[in-house]
Amino acid sequence: MIKPYGSEILTPLLVKDKAHREMLLEEVEKIPSVVVSSAAAANAVMLGGGYFNPLNAYMNLADVLAVAEGMQMPSGLMWPTPVVNLLKGAALSNELKAAAKIALRDPNVEGNPVIAIQSVDKIEQMSAEQISTVCKQIYGTSSTEHPGVAAFVAAGDTLISGTVEVLNFSYFSTDFPETFRTAVEIRNEIKERGWETVIAFQTRNPMHRAHEELCRMAQKELDADGILVHMLLGKLKKGDIPAEVRNASIKKMVELYFPENTVMVSGYGFDMLYAGPREAVLHAIFRQNSGCSHLIVGRDHAGVGDYYGAFDAQTIFDKIPEGALQIGIFRGDHTVWCNKCEKVMMMRDCPHGKEDYLLLSGTRVREILANGEALPPEFSRPEVAQILAEYYQTL
Ligand code: ADX
Repeated sequence: MIKPYGSEILTPLLVKDKAHREMLLEEVEKIPSVVVSSAAAANAVMLGGGYFNPLNAYMNLADVLAVAEGMQMPSGLMWPTPVVNLLKGAALSNELKAAAKIALRDPNVEGNPVIAIQSVDKIEQMSAEQISTVCKQIYGTSSTEHPGVAAFVAAGDTLISGTVEVLNFSYFSTDFPETFRTAVEIRNEIKERGWETVIAFQTRNPMHRAHEELCRMAQKELDADGILVHMLLGKLKKGDIPAEVRNASIKKMVELYFPENTVMVSGYGFDMLYAGPREAVLHAIFRQNSGCSHLIVGRDHAGVGDYYGAFDAQTIFDKIPEGALQIGIFRGDHTVWCNKCEKVMMMRDCPHGKEDYLLLSGTRVREILANGEALPPEFSRPEVAQILAEYYQTL
């Protein structure tokens, strides 16, 4: 089975040992606490579940600048995006600034329970210029019109770095008990199923026909044992379809259109960054940690608006040092409905031309639904279209 990223064994940071947990819970009562950003809480969930292996800490300023500039930590580890606990410096109490350890409170759960305990290594302020440069390097822009930049900037200007011990998986384990899985759990399930070649499919959409066929084409081309449909369960931008609706649509589609025991459907607890190419590399890291041998990267993977070229999320893998990643990338071409072939095709495999194509995209699917129109079968399986139409009627 594929090794975890950057280490021999996977080291999730969720504290499982009962005695140690109890000690930490007692400690929480005595140390200062702070409500963190949604992104920082999601980072804790990803660290806790082993997805961000081998990281064991929130990054400091030197890490962030190096990762943004050259996708490499000062330690030499290739890493594409900042994993940070950013807070508003002006709001931090003196008690917190002087503490060696702090409790991180979850902004996404009522009552703000503690999600993790962090050792405070450094507290460093980012200058406006540094924030702008980092955003340009990661997201391709420093404009807060970009949802990823907006979330980064809104979190604050002050980095608290240091190791973390994670206590729970926020709302993901309670709201999505059937779907939320850690990297450790997925790795174990893959092992139990005896799968070797496993294709991960990243999605933040209910799966339309292009998504479904991309999975099928990759499975055929790689002669894979199985597919992991791995959906993002965290925060999205306005207008995207909520996780519970996507979850129901994807499960229905897999149940009806894929042979039994060939697809695992699960989800991870992270907010969408919309960082396009950089996020694609992050996606590859955490699917390697989950035990997948390949990741599908198609057109405008993890993109938003026109910030990235359609295939930038594929070519970025050419810039990664040889051997840094073990997971393979299945590069999907633009996938369309072809009226002549009467099926979904990748453009590179289709002899026909633009005039025969219907372009399929999540954005177009959402537009059709928002207009109250029925989703045509070229876009969506009818059973999926029905679930989506029912959701749009509630808006
Ligand atoms: S993502 O933000 O999670 O990447 P989405 O759920 O839309 O968005 O896409 C999931 C995967 O399918 C990505 O790898 C994306 O590139 C790919 N994809 C979606 N639509 C198409 C399409 N029409 N042609 C090729 N690839 C596509």
